[in-house]
Amino acid sequence: MFSKLFALVALNVAVTNGALIHRQDDTPVTIPSTSCEFLPIDCCSTITRANNPTTSVVLATLGIAVKDPTLYAGIGCEPVQGTIGPGGNATCLNENFHPLCCGTKTSFKIDADCTFVDINA
Ligand SMILES: *[C@@H]1O[C@H](CO)[C@@H](O)[C@H](O)[C@H]1NC(C)=O
Repeated sequence: MFSKLFALVALNVAVTNGALIHRQDDTPVTIPSTSCEFLPIDCCSTITRANNPTTSVVLATLGIAVKDPTLYAGIGCEPVQGTIGPGGNATCLNENFHPLCCGTKTSFKIDADCTFVDINA
């Protein structure tokens, strides 16, 4: 219980900071929204690889089952607004958030098994 609370506090700090964290040599692949099999697409505040040391502890503490730790995990996630795809008007409510296509979504506003996605393609 204590560790779960700790994880949620750490998470709130990360969400407040709103940073997109990934190593500079980590160039994310971006897929078009038409290739995303896991709708709805979410906009997330902070994004790291699921196997990031801090992120993996948070995910494990909250009991979130990650299928592929080499993919991204997002926190502070909320559904994208508008219509996705070419000619659509999809947008992240918070312009500092980043759209992700995620195979695992949780009630903690944390997603895992995510790929970067272009919501207007
Ligand atoms: C996108 O377009 C639809 C239909 O015109 C509209 O109802 C909706 O409010 C728009 N959404 C955004 C985020 O602009």
